[in-house]
Amino acid sequence: MPLRPFIVGNWKMNGTRALLSEARAIDRAAQRVPTVEVALAPPYTLINAVHAEAEQIAVGAQDCSTREVGAHTGDVAASMLADAGAKFVILGHSERRQDHREDADTISAKRDCALAAGMRVVLCCGESAETRDMGEAEQFVLGHLRAVLPAAGKLSQEPSESVTVAYEPIWAIGTGRNAAPDDVLTMHRSIRALLIETYGEEQGGGVRILYGGSVKPDNARDLLALPDVNGALVGGASLSAQSFMGIVLAASDDDPG
Ligand code: PGA
Repeated sequence: MPLRPFIVGNWKMNGTRALLSEARAIDRAAQRVPTVEVALAPPYTLINAVHAEAEQIAVGAQDCSTREVGAHTGDVAASMLADAGAKFVILGHSERRQDHREDADTISAKRDCALAAGMRVVLCCGESAETRDMGEAEQFVLGHLRAVLPAAGKLSQEPSESVTVAYEPIWAIGTGRNAAPDDVLTMHRSIRALLIETYGEEQGGGVRILYGGSVKPDNARDLLALPDVNGALVGGASLSAQSFMGIVLAASDDDPG
């Protein structure tokens, strides 16, 4: 059975309360597309406000602390995010790996906090252009994922309820460049094989694998039609309801094609 598509908007460090009208518009429009699970990850400052507005969409965070509580000025604990209404946390995004030198240990500590707080984790992975040019993209991405995927024994819910993977080639993020469909297909197949190796055929087959990197309304349909592409992680195009809903519709059964 095909998995329900999951389209997640990552607002990154964009948005003040003025952008709440877009979140509201996305939520209202998403109510008419129940075949697709739609979610937004606004900055911390807007999580509770988007949650208060949302009737249909899930709200998530773009990061969380490696620690659970205490004297850690400026950090935000996963349990606080859950309290503000967040249902998931994006972890291991390449911008955090680059800007904050996050490594697998840091990401795994955050992952454990998010899972303990009852949230889903969206685990990002992706290679640089140099790594791809060297022909090492798959090995690199699978290595990243192996280091951060939670063991089945660590999960209190089924893997498909707790874990989502997002493949985002770094050179495609915010650049307007897309990976070639064949390359996306190959990578998503390999990620699926790793998920099955980790969680077994049925559970590993149920974990959604999102594609990210310059997903727009005009390229979403082709990307989302690929086997094992179960949704999208969308940056720039999620800041407007019109473009984001174009992607959601492309994922739905109602897509006029
Ligand atoms: P983009 O960002 O859609 O703006 O390329 C995707 C992401 O980084 O999640």
